[in-house]
Amino acid sequence: MLTEPSTKYKAFPPVPLAVRQWPSRTLVRAPIWCSVDLRDGNQALAIPMNVSQKLELFQTLVKCGFKEIEVGFPSASNTEFTFNRRLIEERRAPEDVWLQVLVQAREDLIERTFDSLVGAKKTIIHLYNSTSPAQRRVVFGMSPKEIIGVAVRGARLIKERLQRLKGAEVMLQYSPESFSGTEVEFAKEISEAVMDVWQPTPERKMILNLPDTVEVAMPNVYADQIEWICSNIKNRDSLIISLHTHNDRCTGVAATELGLLAGADRVEGTLFGNGERTGNLDIVTVALNLYMHGIDPKLRFDDMNALREVYERCTGMSVPLRHPYAGELVFTAFSGSHQDAIKKGLNEWAKNGRDRHWDVPYLTIDPTDIGREYREVIRVNSQSGKGGVAYLLESEYGIELPKELQREFGPIANDEVDRLGREVSAAELKGMFWREYIERTAPWQLQSFETESRNGAVRCRSTLLRDGQPVQLSGEGNGPLAALVHGFGAAGLLRFEITAYSEHALSASEEAAAIAYIQIKRADGQSRWGAGVDTNIELASVRAVLSAINRSEA
Ligand code: KIV
Ligand code: ZN
Repeated sequence: MLTEPSTKYKAFPPVPLAVRQWPSRTLVRAPIWCSVDLRDGNQALAIPMNVSQKLELFQTLVKCGFKEIEVGFPSASNTEFTFNRRLIEERRAPEDVWLQVLVQAREDLIERTFDSLVGAKKTIIHLYNSTSPAQRRVVFGMSPKEIIGVAVRGARLIKERLQRLKGAEVMLQYSPESFSGTEVEFAKEISEAVMDVWQPTPERKMILNLPDTVEVAMPNVYADQIEWICSNIKNRDSLIISLHTHNDRCTGVAATELGLLAGADRVEGTLFGNGERTGNLDIVTVALNLYMHGIDPKLRFDDMNALREVYERCTGMSVPLRHPYAGELVFTAFSGSHQDAIKKGLNEWAKNGRDRHWDVPYLTIDPTDIGREYREVIRVNSQSGKGGVAYLLESEYGIELPKELQREFGPIANDEVDRLGREVSAAELKGMFWREYIERTAPWQLQSFETESRNGAVRCRSTLLRDGQPVQLSGEGNGPLAALVHGFGAAGLLRFEITAYSEHALSASEEAAAIAYIQIKRADGQSRWGAGVDTNIELASVRAVLSAINRSEA
């Protein structure tokens, strides 16, 4: 890298906007959306989609609610042409969906594009030519005037052929490609020259698409460019101003959002941001960003996992694990403090959700709104705390560890996970809990436990095995556990008290009916938790006492 980059690179010049309105505006409604997955996205694939993949993705886009879909570049290849014909001849597009096609300002290409559109019901013909100084100089070797000539000639060729599409509703779209790298005054001039040919009106608007073909500046600069055009172009009310951002500086979403504040009406982009280089605008993110502010995005992503699966299968691309909303890890917390906060937030939401707005720490939206699950929220690895461990045991197995027991078991589980050096499943966690508490049968093991009540007192008689040798116990108290505690003391085996107790039924899938949790405090001051499972709740609690004693003697 250069030590003095200014010798090679220069700052982007500011846009001549004396007063800007966009910083003090907020977004209040969804824009018109246009998916360019099947054209811009497809052009960027190492292996472009075949016709059946394009058809599947097209149906998926329709299902998401897109009403405008750029279906291809029909003059570019036979596949593109055939795809367009199949959509039209097999009437694949619902009545309210516009099929958009892209074409350069060349007569043969325009002719072929019109051939591909015969029989279409609703179509958008999208003409583009590139306008930035670098494109004018390096690619075309043309003056600004000649570049305007190319656009005007293309606009005329399209206008002359419109009668070939009688019976169809047609909208016209022009893009000064590389708009964001173009002087705003020149972008206005060339766009107005095209408007002069197409003569849009407020009733029959044309789409003026202003592409951030290559992101060369910060998103506020793109917003300035959009606001400048919206304020200076003639007949603004005859135009639908459209945004088409790419993501070279990783701010495609921001540029679109600020561009909407700056007055644009329409947004072009792709699912999950597939597109040339760093990608097109990611429409899923912009739409769900609106949704998380309570704005109906007019697109539906009810089953995000299924959408991701279709997208990945059709395009061969993969959605990054940390992609907003759709990424595998987005609703997953690894850190213990995050897990704890999420658990508390979800509990509060479960109790009071109907009365308030979503405000769960670390989760921007409710994963279930987009078909994802709370189950995905917490996974356990060595960075996790007791909250995550407890959450998984409870959500997967209905094991409701008392708070203090969570504090005891959390570090035990953490040590084990640390030793394994990987994430662990809920089943593995349950296994750890069972080994540590439920299956603790040494030195003490239960053989039998019987009780009888007399005059309000409970007497117990129990046979235990200590290191395999039978030991008889009997004791008395105001309940079975008190009798057991007394029995241990009376036999001179161990003095302790029970300091905490809870129990609950286990889920139906478990063979055993109940689980009991017991904390004992020994005469020497040691405190330990134990847990026991049995179809009989009394025996479950006796087992829990023995588990606690066994752990205290380990
Ligand atoms: O990025 C771009 O400029 C384009 C145009 C053809 C709209 O894809
Ligand atoms: Zn593009």
